[in-house]
Amino acid sequence: MLGDYHLDQSGHFTAPNATSEKSTMSHSALPKPSTSSLSEKLEGSIRIPGDKSISHRCFIFGGLASGETRITGLLEGEDILNTGRAMQAMGAKIDKQGDVWVIQGTGNGCLLEPDQPLDFGNAGTGARLMMGLAGTYNMKTTFIGDASLTKRPMGRVLDPLRQMGVQVDAAEGDRLPLTLHGPQTAAPISYRVPMASAQVKSAILLAGLNTPGITTVIEPVMTRDHTEKMLQGFGAELTVETDSDGTRHIHIVGQGKLTGQNIDVPGDPSSAAFPLVAALITKGSDITIRNVLMNPTRTGIITTLQEMGANIEILDQRLAGGEDVADLRVRYSHLKGIIVPPERAPSMIDEYPVLAIAASFAEGETIMDGLDELRVKESDRLAAVARGLEANGVECVEGEMSLIVRGRPDGKGLGGGTVATHLDHRIAMSFLVLGLAAEKPVTIDDGNMIATSFPEFFDMMKGLGANID
Ligand code: S3P
Repeated sequence: MLGDYHLDQSGHFTAPNATSEKSTMSHSALPKPSTSSLSEKLEGSIRIPGDKSISHRCFIFGGLASGETRITGLLEGEDILNTGRAMQAMGAKIDKQGDVWVIQGTGNGCLLEPDQPLDFGNAGTGARLMMGLAGTYNMKTTFIGDASLTKRPMGRVLDPLRQMGVQVDAAEGDRLPLTLHGPQTAAPISYRVPMASAQVKSAILLAGLNTPGITTVIEPVMTRDHTEKMLQGFGAELTVETDSDGTRHIHIVGQGKLTGQNIDVPGDPSSAAFPLVAALITKGSDITIRNVLMNPTRTGIITTLQEMGANIEILDQRLAGGEDVADLRVRYSHLKGIIVPPERAPSMIDEYPVLAIAASFAEGETIMDGLDELRVKESDRLAAVARGLEANGVECVEGEMSLIVRGRPDGKGLGGGTVATHLDHRIAMSFLVLGLAAEKPVTIDDGNMIATSFPEFFDMMKGLGANID
């Protein structure tokens, strides 16, 4: 029996009682402005939705593995559902039964040619990982996405794939829409990743799954390691050696067997960062965020905020599904500006927009450097943050890869502006958080994209006491 959701054979996503109409990505919807304003203390306990990176990988590895994969706690954001649709279009069977997503995978090496373009909407992770996964198959796969994804560079994934024998037909500058055509037999490579990117690392490892011999990724700067850990969990022959200088050499033996697993997805620390910063800057707040993933490749924001004086208690640290998980008790705090070590950037790359909001209420200056990767996210996040801060009376200086923010702990004079979100969910959520402690309300031009990563954001924040319309 079908449960709440069903990804049908044509790759369309339906919920119970839904018509046959596709539940489309919100990028096609009309912009939905939203305003937040000065709030009383935030209080209560929330359970944060599943981690986005792990959820993408659940659909990908579960869809590829032999046998059944059962997933609880999956993030049901639009980005993830698009990855599920793409896996289904290549032969995986995906259903939701009660609270459990149940996947029957194709078996490694057995993906089918999709009969229509794969639409990844807003999701760089979905698109780039799936290019690696499907690219080495001797079939044609076409990738499309929304206006934001279409602007993002894909060469970083296409270059190593070309070395493996994949033919690429792409729009100018290696952008979407693009079509991949794999060789009869792909060639294994050893590839040094030129930028700190878990997406690039993962795409090559996934390409290696369908390639004879050993594919090696050399990673000079460690990024989130969910692909390595989860592939090992699914039974892939994957080993990691680390040099004395910290460079990681990740080897994967191609064409092995993956076996379906049971996975409980922990809460997303990148989503937790929004209520966390909201509580730190809203006077009198005391909230608990439960079930947060504490993998050290993801917790740079907690370390940084603690260095700024944040009162964050890490409670009930435990292991869940091979990952560290904890509850976070967060109380309103007097924050101080700091110099954020640039080498920490990979472990908090998605959290700089909301860190800039925390910095807006800190005493003195917060200096953030090593932010070049922020320019190629769902928007140019460095520019989007700087323009949003300026529009709301926050003093800041934008460098080529740096940002300096001068805070106003009392929030006086802050707010009153409208922020251009550029189809970027994290810009939208960050500036709604700013409005909770600013003197004047803050408006964002569109809140639709929040559903890509954190569909419960509005309800959860309002439940804690946030004034958001
Ligand atoms: C992700 C990697 C990061 C991050 C993204 C998720 C992943 O991107 O920004 O939100 O799941 O691998 P980069 O690899 O481009 O840094």
